[in-house]
Amino acid sequence: MSASGGSVDTGTGYGRPRPTTMRELTEVGAGTPMGELLRRYWHPVGLAGDASATPRALRVLGEDLVLFRDGGGRPGLVTARCAHRGTTLYYGRVEERGIRCCYHGWLFDVAGHCLEQPCEPDGGRQRERIRQPWYPVAERYGLIFAYLGPPERKPVLPRYAALERLDEGEPVETDDHSIGGGGPVIIPCNWLQHYENLMDSLHVPILHGSFSGPQFTAQMGLMPEVTWAITDRGVKATSDRRLPDGTVHHRISEAVLPTLRVIPNPRVARYARVESIGWVLPHDDTSFRIYTVGRVRAPGELASVRSRLNGKPWEELTEAEHRRFPGDYEAQVGQGPVTLHSEENLVSSDRGVALVRRVLRQQLDALAAGHDPIGVCFDADASPIIFEAGNFLHAS
Ligand code: FES
Ligand SMILES: [Fe+2]
Repeated sequence: MSASGGSVDTGTGYGRPRPTTMRELTEVGAGTPMGELLRRYWHPVGLAGDASATPRALRVLGEDLVLFRDGGGRPGLVTARCAHRGTTLYYGRVEERGIRCCYHGWLFDVAGHCLEQPCEPDGGRQRERIRQPWYPVAERYGLIFAYLGPPERKPVLPRYAALERLDEGEPVETDDHSIGGGGPVIIPCNWLQHYENLMDSLHVPILHGSFSGPQFTAQMGLMPEVTWAITDRGVKATSDRRLPDGTVHHRISEAVLPTLRVIPNPRVARYARVESIGWVLPHDDTSFRIYTVGRVRAPGELASVRSRLNGKPWEELTEAEHRRFPGDYEAQVGQGPVTLHSEENLVSSDRGVALVRRVLRQQLDALAAGHDPIGVCFDADASPIIFEAGNFLHAS
């Protein structure tokens, strides 16, 4: 009985415990558990063309960096803060041998060696004692990859069969745009909200099949039967949809560690193995972006499969249309900058999400025990990785 004589309300918002997040899974800075795990892998930090004679400011795993390409064509990635007195190399000038700081003209090469100190006698007699912090980079598939981890554990940059074994005339195309449903290039929420969404197979018929759509195809709007499993690369989801003609659309998606989106085309243009890979790049704890590489049959194809909602690209939608046709951006950013894990209620259809978290925790434990995490490879002759993911048609 309440003070006013009626029955006492239950389940109100009052008196809830202070919410918490799984910081060990979400934080990406150096020295944090996940930050150190992510630093054991190569990450794409730009399109090949982003490394140019114009310094480009990047934020990667909470670090401010500057990407450039010296006059010899070598890409370089250095910390933004100049080793002299700390102004940003973003305002530097790229030259034949490296990048020159705008403040006192120190010149650094792509490995951070200080080549000149023009204000010092003889160009700096002690200059070889200075090192601008730098990171190794490598170019592949039209992307610049960087390794921000311990040098002695640097793995080989992986190759992927999906991007290597090209049919005649199939170019590889890169895209640095956004999440499937559209949104700004930089998504303002924690990377894990997007990454674990890859295994959230049951949101597809709801968010994409009903609220925003059908956003992809009517077929993808059917409620699938889903099973999930941990693999030796991450987690996979298998979704079966029984089609009106009695055949079964058998769809396998993979979340590959550390941040790979191995998701077959949701428009099911043809039944085949996956033809594109996306990488989720955490900028910091509350923002990320995505790089995608795919085999295409015609130039511009990757960009052309971006969703239109209510017949428009995402950026042209009015606020009222965002509310009528919410997509991945609205749902994931809507969880907040970093979701409140203590307030979640995971159910059986969240099993894929739970497995992603479990597999990440297993790697944190492996790292703490002095082991390398799954998926890192030190064999330069290793054959390209073959994914299971794809859209397939089964007779029944
Ligand atoms: S701060 Fe860069 S050269 Fe002085
Ligand atoms: Fe989605």
